[in-house]
Amino acid sequence: MALDAEVTPDVAAEPGALLARAGWKATMIQPLSDAGVGSRSPYLRKQFSLDKLPNRAELRISALGLYACFINGQRVGDDVLTPGWTSYHARLSYQTYDVTKLLREGENTIDIWLADGWMRSQIFGAPFGIYKTPIFNTWGDKIGAIAELTGDGRALLATDTTWRSGLTPVMKSGIYFGEIYDAREENVEPSLGVERIEGFSKDVLVPHEINGIRELEPFPVVASTTDKNGRTTYDFGQNLAGYVHFTARGERGARVTIEHAEVLDKDGTFSTANLRLAEAQVVYVLKGGGEETYKPHFTFHGFRHARVTIEGDAEIVAIESVPITSAVVQTGSFECGNALINRLVQNTIWSQRSNFIDVPTDCPQRDERLGWTGDAQVFAGTACYLHDSHWFLRKWLRDVMVDQREDGSIPHVVPDVSWGHEDLMPNFRGSTGWGDAICVIPWVLYTHYGDREALEETLSAMERWVDFIWSISDGPIVYPPRGGAWAQLGFTFGDWLQPKGTTVKPLPTIGDDAAATIYLYISSDLTAKAAEVVGNEDLATRMRERATKVRDAFQNEFIAPSGRLVYDDQTSYALAILHDLVPDEMLPRTVRYFVNSIERTDGRIGTGFIGTPALLPALVKAGAFELAEYVFLQEDVPGWLFQVRNGATTIWERWDAIQADGTLFDPAMNSYNHYAYGAVCQFLFESAAGFRADPEQPGFDSIIFEPVIFPRLAPVAAHHDAPAGRVEAAWDISGEWVNFTAVVPEGATGTLVLARRYQDATLDGEPIDARRDDGKACVQLEPGTHRIRFRVTGEPEYPVNLSPATNRPMI
Ligand code: BGC
Repeated sequence: MALDAEVTPDVAAEPGALLARAGWKATMIQPLSDAGVGSRSPYLRKQFSLDKLPNRAELRISALGLYACFINGQRVGDDVLTPGWTSYHARLSYQTYDVTKLLREGENTIDIWLADGWMRSQIFGAPFGIYKTPIFNTWGDKIGAIAELTGDGRALLATDTTWRSGLTPVMKSGIYFGEIYDAREENVEPSLGVERIEGFSKDVLVPHEINGIRELEPFPVVASTTDKNGRTTYDFGQNLAGYVHFTARGERGARVTIEHAEVLDKDGTFSTANLRLAEAQVVYVLKGGGEETYKPHFTFHGFRHARVTIEGDAEIVAIESVPITSAVVQTGSFECGNALINRLVQNTIWSQRSNFIDVPTDCPQRDERLGWTGDAQVFAGTACYLHDSHWFLRKWLRDVMVDQREDGSIPHVVPDVSWGHEDLMPNFRGSTGWGDAICVIPWVLYTHYGDREALEETLSAMERWVDFIWSISDGPIVYPPRGGAWAQLGFTFGDWLQPKGTTVKPLPTIGDDAAATIYLYISSDLTAKAAEVVGNEDLATRMRERATKVRDAFQNEFIAPSGRLVYDDQTSYALAILHDLVPDEMLPRTVRYFVNSIERTDGRIGTGFIGTPALLPALVKAGAFELAEYVFLQEDVPGWLFQVRNGATTIWERWDAIQADGTLFDPAMNSYNHYAYGAVCQFLFESAAGFRADPEQPGFDSIIFEPVIFPRLAPVAAHHDAPAGRVEAAWDISGEWVNFTAVVPEGATGTLVLARRYQDATLDGEPIDARRDDGKACVQLEPGTHRIRFRVTGEPEYPVNLSPATNRPMI
């Protein structure tokens, strides 16, 4: 029901554009019935009369906290958790709804229910380290609403101090807490007034840049069991973010309690250890006298299983789980001959849906659900293939920018929950790999969607970030404070959760200094490129020089003359090779050591959050196609398919979240719905299906088709709805021939690039003769569908040779 105008890029491109056209007359008002954080949800009410119905009525509305608005008892719009989540102190979204059909001639009533939400219910605080204290009232301790109703452009009503306030049946709610709803407390008349919220500045109001959070198709129960205490656990078959929707029947005062869990323990026990401080419970008290249907208003959970406890005489008549997300438009698909991979892609889609809830978050279940910048940074490329993520990410980048500190550092999470709580969370900002989101994501938006404005808007924030990282050590090599020193400025998460191997003898991992220095290089380089695109030559030159300095210093400090990296682990090699940090003459030897780092783990993954997305692209770049295929397809831990084989329906936070014997690993620091490792999907589109946007003509105006044939994936088919139109690619193997189909949308152009070992190629029946200097075949593609044939010839440059593993390079 949200007006289209509110979500189209044209309007969103100018924050505050609508506002400028028509300033707010309404007042941000606070219900006097509100007793503060954790108390019963209040509501605001106004009765008004209309002599004549307007042809078109619009409500624009926002709140401090969360709101749900009803006109004449009917819910306004189908968005949930409005007004969404932003860095509230600087930006607060408002929605505009067409409410024409909800109004009637004569008396009308508008009710606005309010709840604590992200604004003041507990956000963060975990049972470890310095974060033991739960934090409440992050952005303020007052909740309230601002709303204006217009009819045919004329003001009909606005929030002001004549409104009344009362209490809703929501007895308590919180993002982590869940919700308690007492149906016996419905329709309580307002008994108090309201007050203007002093100090609220309407300047923070911005039109919601994206669609609201929406419900998706519900999931029915696939299995259920009842324990000896009479509690029934329902399995909905899909891990997701959302809530349970149920119908119950029973006596007045009977209570239905719903607990949520992502997994069951080895012995089938309902496992909530990973929720930590998040109670994540819903309690519904029946009013009695017939069927009662309920779903929570002001919370959501990350779960696949729900355990229902009934106190009193009542029964569940119907129950389902309802996913919610901001990622409502799917724009990509990838399928191949391996069912586990297909499920992995689905799992990534579900992890994106679950974690694109107005803000890109780490997870939807435990006492975090935060906009961890590093997670978004590594996943952005994949996000843009799978769902329309353009304005979702741009909206978030605006929050990143307002949360960036004076010194250029960027909080680890945005919206910044340490805002105003520096005492509890000192220096909760400035990690490389995380804050680099400000440089990486605008570039992703530029290449993927052709969005030059994203670069213009963020350029100075990029520059300030890069200068901040340089300032940590005042030089090209970054020396972050010692590991574990969370509270020290410049602390880095490095390659977070990088596995040390499966044996008692740990494998090498990347040093924080190398990880931070590599990221300083990546971000300096991207800032230089962005500056060039927007025509800021001075900055482009400064950043190019800086990137060169960092690269030279990296080579001096972290690459031995033999070509081996000082930190001899998969992440170091993958990042250094992918980002061209290794001198050309050394590359073959470095690649050999890279290959060794994989042979040493028997093809298992040795990378964490920042290394993982780079691993397979780096192997492909090095020409080690067979090894990339082997690593991707191996089903042991650590590996992408291990979790799929073990029943995952979303992407796990840790490679070994559930161990081979079914034991839950470190139950309190474990999420089964973290999209970071799903970033491998970008590789599936760009290498396995083989298409990507050409940064020279971004937005898929020019599409590069460069498939890598992984025989064990055959047949492969993928599509992506790019701004330029639908791009498709598919291939299969027939004998020694590969048949590859590429579809270039109208108005775009394509370039086909074929690896050296792909020979005797034809394009639509005609031989392809042209080869580039690097030996790759290269030919232009017109819009339309093209049939390409070629043979894979020759021996692999880096055959898979996993045993005996040795550190000695074979050249
Ligand atoms: C979060 C992450 C995040 C990380 C930073 C975790 O607790 O869930 O995904 O990036 O902390 O180290």
